[in-house]
This record gives sequence, C-alpha cells and structure tokens, in this order.
Amino acid sequence: MIRRILEIPDPGLREPCAPVAEITPEIARLAGDMFDTMHASAGLGLAAPQVGVYARLFVLELPPDDDDPLSGRRFVLINPEVDLTGARKEMVEGCLSLPGFRAMVKRAEGVTVAFTQLDGARVSLEARGLFAQAVQHEVDHLNGVLFIDHLKSLLDLERIPPEMLDWTEEAEAEAA
Ligand code: NI
Repeated sequence: MIRRILEIPDPGLREPCAPVAEITPEIARLAGDMFDTMHASAGLGLAAPQVGVYARLFVLELPPDDDDPLSGRRFVLINPEVDLTGARKEMVEGCLSLPGFRAMVKRAEGVTVAFTQLDGARVSLEARGLFAQAVQHEVDHLNGVLFIDHLKSLLDLERIPPEMLDWTEEAEAEAA
C-alpha cells in the first residue's frame, strides 16, 4: 500500500524516532508499504518518519549496478548503528520529502552499518559509494535531520532537470 510521504516543512520530519522494540506483523507491513511508496516515487531509500511513523527503520533498494554487490537488493534496516569510514566527499543528493531538488552534501565515502533484519537477525555490512551515502541520509531522517541541514544556504539547492527524475536514467541524481 502506498502511503503519503511527508514533505518539507512538515514538522513530522523533525520528530526523533524511537527504537523498534519488537518486530511485529505491523512492522513487516510498514516495511512492505515503504517499498511500495518508494517505488511509486522512483526513490532508492525511504525512512519511516517520512511516512509519519516515528520508529528507527528505513528501507533501501539501489538500482542494479554490476560494480556494487549491495545494489539491486531490498534491505530493511531496523535500529541501525552506523560508523563512518573513509574520507568526506561532496556528493549529489536529493530527498523524496523535497521533490524536484538536489544539492551537493558532504558525506563519508563508506560506512559500517549494523542493523536488525525483518527476520530478527542482527547483521553488519560494510558499504561504500551510493549505498553508504543513502545509509547516512536515512539515518539522518531517524534523528529528524534533513539533507538541507548540511547546506550552508538553501540557495545551494538546485532544481533537478525533469529528464533526470527517472532513476533508470541517472542514479546519481536520485532522491533518497
Ligand atoms: Ni530523504
């Protein structure tokens, strides 16, 4: 089921999220709905607070890329804990809660992320590139932080050219 995505400046996007205490059928249904919602907007990541649920979980699914074994797979990350690795680098970023805009944001090139899966297993992944960037973006959402908070000025936002709004065309400019 597609849920409504909160958009900036909805105050719900600033709510801090509580850890998920138990993986209930409701949590599994929420995750499924979040994939439906994300796909409907051609995004590659979506955090629970973006659909008005203040729980520490997000979903990720990067477009298939032969160079990234984490791409093309569905991930549900519950109660994530992140360590940043590598250098900080400017990366193009957008957000489904601010459709049509993007900006350069400084992010770590890599992350180590531990999280609980829907099956209850606690796992840890090392990621680089787009996956690592998306993890940092989504964890920010769980803390009520938005990518625009990393900008010196809102004037650093730019409109995404309409022809780039399809992630099958250009993954780099995609909303997360
Ligand atoms: Ni976002």
